[in-house]
Amino acid sequence: MKPIKIKVNNQEIECPVIEGTENEHGINITQLRKKTGYITLDPGYANTGACISKITFIDGEKGILRYRGYPIEELAGKISFTETAYLLLNGELPSQDEKNQFSKSLRKNANIHEDMKRFFDGFPLNAHPMATLSSMVTALSAFHPDSESEDEEIINKNIINILAKVKTIAAYSYRKYNGLPFIYPNQDLNYVENFLHMMFSDSQEEYHADPVLVDALNLLLILHADHEQNCSTSTVRLAGSSKSNVFGAISSGISALWGPLHGGANQAVIEMLKTIKKDGNNYKKYIEYAKDKNSPFRLMGFGHRVYKNYDPRAKIIKKAADQVLTKLKINDPLLDLAKQLEEVALNDDYFVQRGLYPNVDFYSGIIYRAMGIPTNMFTVMFALGRLPGWLAHWKEMINSPDFKINRPRQIYTGPTKRSLK
Ligand code: CMC
Repeated sequence: MKPIKIKVNNQEIECPVIEGTENEHGINITQLRKKTGYITLDPGYANTGACISKITFIDGEKGILRYRGYPIEELAGKISFTETAYLLLNGELPSQDEKNQFSKSLRKNANIHEDMKRFFDGFPLNAHPMATLSSMVTALSAFHPDSESEDEEIINKNIINILAKVKTIAAYSYRKYNGLPFIYPNQDLNYVENFLHMMFSDSQEEYHADPVLVDALNLLLILHADHEQNCSTSTVRLAGSSKSNVFGAISSGISALWGPLHGGANQAVIEMLKTIKKDGNNYKKYIEYAKDKNSPFRLMGFGHRVYKNYDPRAKIIKKAADQVLTKLKINDPLLDLAKQLEEVALNDDYFVQRGLYPNVDFYSGIIYRAMGIPTNMFTVMFALGRLPGWLAHWKEMINSPDFKINRPRQIYTGPTKRSLK
């Protein structure tokens, strides 16, 4: 494609056009400042591509999401979360041998160092599990000092360490919060079964995870596994671009995910639904609050920076919520309330004109609740699902020929030079 000419301050420069495989186009402005003295300004980065990536494609207008080319609708419910992780990390689905190998290494590395168990005692009992998770993931780097290494084998080993151990940390933080003894991972169980075992086993008797819960969790983790350059993934890339070790980069991503505008929205949705229920189920009043520019209230679980159409993940989760609750014979009034809210919003001009639809977080909490996972653990569940995406992006970044420390510029608007009197 022909370069695009940009004229700035009477200085014309030719900017190469970068074409993606899905007909996306970007203007390469890497010479802009050098040749014209100007920079671009794009708060929130809605028009800025930070990298070239082969991992995930989203078309927000059409509601399309594909991992390594595979539509999310084809992957969800058909392959396992560990196969999805392998796909994101390696670009291809695993052969049977590769799958066995990958799964075996995840099972073998699920234990954390015994000394790390004592760290949980240092947190207050009511610590938010996201606070515990991000701290513990940083702490993992102390037990894996080789994470500074650029050796590919060591990098891959630590990727496995993170995938295998973070679910153990997540389950231990739940056990600690509830005053329950830690349950060690069991090498005979697959990833999802093992997590449920560490969460819900009773140390007195054998635990067998309900296959309905295993399937539901597998589905949710796959749907959260990657979403290209979202806030937390961009954070992982930014933190990792200083060549900080992978544990530190992932821990930064966990902290970025925590906010209610991002992964914290799943917790906020359930809290919002509970508030509306307590307020006599008057959901129409809350729709009005959401539209009122003088009110800080937003309809949580609605809207997305990229999707201006129904989030394809939300479509799958909504259907799954119905199925899971029916199979478990649970009648959750919050699901009915969520559906009522959705229906009113989707027929309201305010939401229609702005392209605001339910996102991945709108219905996911209903399923987590049905599984017995407490509300404050929801964002931890999101983090577990997003780990393969974060790791795939981190790995893609450190191996990129364009690798550079990420360092945006600014337009300074503070005082000009002045002196002490
Ligand atoms: N409720 C009411 N109004 C909304 C909402 C909402 N949930 N979301 C966006 N709007 C309005 C917003 O006020 C603005 O209106 P106007 O044009 O009149 O000023 C317009 O829609 C565009 O919104 P924006 O804030 O400029 O959009 P954004 O791309 O910067 O923000 C968002 C995206 C997800 C942060 C936002 O939609 C939001 O706050 N949603 C609720 C929180 C949420 O569910 N977050 C999870 C996102 S999906 C999963 C994930 O990334 O983790």
